[in-house]
Amino acid sequence: MGGEVDVDGLQFDPGLSRQIESVYTTPDVVEQRRVVRAALALRPGDRVLDVGVGPGLLAAEMAGEVGPDGRICGIDISESMLAIAGTRTDVPGGPGIELELASAARIPHPAESFDVVVSTQVFEYVDDVARALEEVRRVLRPAGRVVLLDTDWGSLVWRSSDDERMARVLTAFEDHLADPHLPRTLADVLARSGFTLTHEQVVPILNTAYDARTYSAGLIDIVSDFVPGHAGVTEDDARAWADDLRSLGPSYFFSLNRYLFVASAL
Ligand SMILES: C[S@@+](CC[C@H](N)C(=O)[O-])C[C@H]1O[C@@H](n2cnc3c(N)ncnc32)[C@H](O)[C@@H]1O
Repeated sequence: MGGEVDVDGLQFDPGLSRQIESVYTTPDVVEQRRVVRAALALRPGDRVLDVGVGPGLLAAEMAGEVGPDGRICGIDISESMLAIAGTRTDVPGGPGIELELASAARIPHPAESFDVVVSTQVFEYVDDVARALEEVRRVLRPAGRVVLLDTDWGSLVWRSSDDERMARVLTAFEDHLADPHLPRTLADVLARSGFTLTHEQVVPILNTAYDARTYSAGLIDIVSDFVPGHAGVTEDDARAWADDLRSLGPSYFFSLNRYLFVASAL
């Protein structure tokens, strides 16, 4: 975690950062990025800010799209995430990706610096979303676009042999976010922050068999590392919960919705 920025909940330390990088290379999340890039509709020369750039996978894909005359900047509050993103800054045919340790609450760029701001799976961790949107609006040029994607954990359907334990583990996991249900209020907050919504879309993830190379298999590791000590969940509970899911084989079922919003700073 970066020294001068202060955040509660999940600590994006070196171990978790590597876990997230691995989960974000699964076909489920590669497909999610394809949907995000379609919504972004970047053109050569676009100047783009990625808020919460994470492992830099989206930033690298965007660099190829904006080309050498464009600009890709990424900020993040986690030094370990920035270290991983730093391995992806040189994309053939793209501009060098510029990375900085900074929070969405205080974006270190002058007004009207960007044509597009994108932030995927980040605002759900942000304490003051209205403040972050104020910052996004400030750094966007007039009529610039913001693209946000977040999970509503209320959309989760995850089959288990023990529904009561599953409910306790998921309640405990909600502690890792500032708002586990952000998407249901996000269109409203965007409008109140002066943005005009131009596109909205559900982006589902569906895994119908246990497979190590899926998003939800990686999520099992992240959840079981996080939940002990939260909402009364013990190490043993977390281990038994994870073992159960991994043993379900073809009976396994996981479904979760992300929500994508595109809005214009008119
Ligand atoms: C789940 S990861 C998503 C990473 C990336 N956006 C992606 O979709 O691949 C969340 C990222 O948001 C960063 N983050 C959390 N709160 C933040 C904040 N207030 N400002 C900037 N980054 C933040 C974390 O450090 C982490 O890298």
